[in-house]
Amino acid sequence: MQEISIYVHIPFCERKCNYCAFASFCGTQEQIENYIDVLCREIEKRKCDKLVKTIYIGGGTPSILNEEQIERIVKTIYQNFNVDKSAEFTIEANPNSITENLLKKWKELRVNRVSIGVQSLCDKSLKKIGRLHDKKTAIEKIKLTRKYFDNVSADLIVGLENETGKDLCKNAKALLELGIKHISCYLLEIYENTKIYQMIKMGQYRPLDDDTTIESFNKLANYLIDSGMERYEISNFCYPGYESKHNLNYWKRGEYLGFGLGAHSFENEERYYNLANFADYEQEKRKTEHLTDKEKIEEIIMLGLRCKIGVNLDKILSMGYDLQENEYYKDYIKQGILIEKDKNVYLNQTFYHISNTIISNLLP
Ligand SMILES: C[S@@+](CC[C@H](N)C(=O)[O-])C[C@H]1O[C@@H](n2cnc3c(N)ncnc32)[C@H](O)[C@@H]1O
Repeated sequence: MQEISIYVHIPFCERKCNYCAFASFCGTQEQIENYIDVLCREIEKRKCDKLVKTIYIGGGTPSILNEEQIERIVKTIYQNFNVDKSAEFTIEANPNSITENLLKKWKELRVNRVSIGVQSLCDKSLKKIGRLHDKKTAIEKIKLTRKYFDNVSADLIVGLENETGKDLCKNAKALLELGIKHISCYLLEIYENTKIYQMIKMGQYRPLDDDTTIESFNKLANYLIDSGMERYEISNFCYPGYESKHNLNYWKRGEYLGFGLGAHSFENEERYYNLANFADYEQEKRKTEHLTDKEKIEEIIMLGLRCKIGVNLDKILSMGYDLQENEYYKDYIKQGILIEKDKNVYLNQTFYHISNTIISNLLP
């Protein structure tokens, strides 16, 4: 039976973070209820009989939905899709909105993985980036979540003001001691339409400079690897067996359906997405991107080299691109930047921080 993943986007947050450029906003209860109506209708309309192997409810902040709201969405999925008994089911949460009753409800709905937006465990940092939680709350809520869930992930941001490698490792140590199994580490990105962009312009915020950021990231990466985690993708680390199956499906170019505002789908080699403003979304407006063969090859190389899956040389050869004939490729193999093994090629993890340059030199 054909397999598929499901992504559900919840665009609401209690407060917009200073660095956030995602499609998310503070909604009223009425707007949230209305959104759930439209979302459930979309889920019903797009039902199919493929076997659902992973579900990911992301945002925004899905944990701001109350028990009844999340139940309505999940039950609509179960009523309309054939969800595998052992499907990975992740929900994204902010420490601030996690409650014991919510955790119980998630468990009852067969959620088996929780991804918590910790970002930092330094109180000064958290305040400056506009988070609603402090270190104490983050720790309390992780402990509470771990009472109900084994598979808990945490997001960290690298590049925040005054947070260098030493602080990051200290924070990571605390997370591992709390039983976190998976850590996503993102480099701070500054977008023009964000509050942090203005703060930087006005001299109120000073992110780390590029060199210190890379150095700090590498320190953190080494710390996590020394602690027994594997770097299975540029930004993602986990203990063996705790990879996010949902993300692995994206990187393998597996099929997925995205429900909700601005959500992306990939089916039959076609990418399409819901529009990101509510009026268009409600009217079921979608955009489709037809990939050319060249774009498909580019995707395979970009996604494969960024994670442990690597790139199958025969596969792209059969699509008309002989990567081994690329001049940069030959050079990278000689220098040990790329590693060939059993007709697959992998990016040496030591060079992950310059992956963009390497990958762009290898595209057809
Ligand atoms: C889609 S966001 C939502 C997660 C959740 N609502 C939260 O705020 O914790 C997923 C993750 O992306 C990361 N992220 C969002 N904006 C970022 C930025 N400008 N730079 C770096 N990382 C960012 C954060 O680590 C965040 O947890």
